[in-house]
Amino acid sequence: MMFERDNEIVASTLNIGDEDLELSLRPQRLVQYIGQNKVKEVLGIFIESAKMRNQPLDHVLLSGPPGLGKTTLANIISNEMGVNIRVTSGPAIERPGDLAAILTNLNENDVLFIDEIHRLNKTVEEIMYPALEDYALDIIIGKGPSARSIRLDLPKFTLIGATTRSGMLASPLRDRFGVMCTLDFYNADDLKEIVLRSAGIINVEINDSGAEEIARRSRGTPRIANRLLKRVRDYAIVKCNGKIDLKTADSALKMLEIDEMGLDKLDRRILNTIIEYYRGGPVGLDTLAASIGEEKVTIEDVYEPYLLQIGYLNRTPRGRVVTEMGYRHVNKVKKNIGQMTIDFEG
Ligand SMILES: Nc1ncnc2c1ncn2[C@@H]1O[C@H](COP(=O)(O)OP(=O)(O)O)[C@@H](O)[C@H]1O
Ligand SMILES: [Mg+2]
Repeated sequence: MMFERDNEIVASTLNIGDEDLELSLRPQRLVQYIGQNKVKEVLGIFIESAKMRNQPLDHVLLSGPPGLGKTTLANIISNEMGVNIRVTSGPAIERPGDLAAILTNLNENDVLFIDEIHRLNKTVEEIMYPALEDYALDIIIGKGPSARSIRLDLPKFTLIGATTRSGMLASPLRDRFGVMCTLDFYNADDLKEIVLRSAGIINVEINDSGAEEIARRSRGTPRIANRLLKRVRDYAIVKCNGKIDLKTADSALKMLEIDEMGLDKLDRRILNTIIEYYRGGPVGLDTLAASIGEEKVTIEDVYEPYLLQIGYLNRTPRGRVVTEMGYRHVNKVKKNIGQMTIDFEG
């Protein structure tokens, strides 16, 4: 599995045992979906309009880093529309026939959710175009000179695509989405509300400052907030009669090596490697991944977005650069002497 590593807390993908938790914590309706107000407003209007017109919702593209609520939102959309959702993913649809089978089995107005849609292969993607535009499939029957193409009508449906990188989507595919929503990292208030809501569902006692601490150290990501809550709960059960306050949260997170900013060992290793081996950068992603011994895609999709967001890392045309704030976080000082950068242990 691509993102599975020693620290599964930040890894942002599912681990065994967490799947049930995710399901039970997943909001079912738009009003329960915390934060992302712009996205909720836009979707709410389009859903309402589609229902009033008794037509399927326009195709929706959801993009953003892992764990921000794309899958949750896709399910909410189908709930709000009152239709079925069929869930699959880009890499799972190997041949055009797989897609044809899925599409012909949909009911009118249904949602087809394709996760990791940037990983659809080209031949599948091409038969997708008429399906999205005209609700039709062009199928070739027979071989050689006697081959002919027939057009198959499909039920009207809504495609919801999710991707960590909308930039990797071929533009003809991207252009066929009527609604595009980019999810941003959550602010601390929204994450606190998510932590409190989840604590209620898993039945753990937590006070305001405990929830704030978990929220603050969750990298703006609901999935991480929920996961940290669960780990802090375990710690609290063993160490302090099950109640979570600031002190318990802090001790538990320290034990998990999640620092004040919510960064974990690999985050710090990324910063330290760039500083120590590449004088703070710029360094290319391939080189960096090789030095750290981590998958490129993990660094790019899971780690980097948050480090960029909090301004510890910059992306330049020549590669990744650690900023002054990034230096300070790992107790080092960035010193510029002309073109040269020298690093001091702080
Ligand atoms: N806006 C939100 N409000 C409350 N919980 C959320 C929200 N977004 C995500 N979550 C929680 O985070 C978990 C991960 O969300 P998910 O939709 O699987 O993320 P993604 O598909 O973007 O990787 C969900 O199980 C859900 O409990
Ligand atoms: Mg998902």
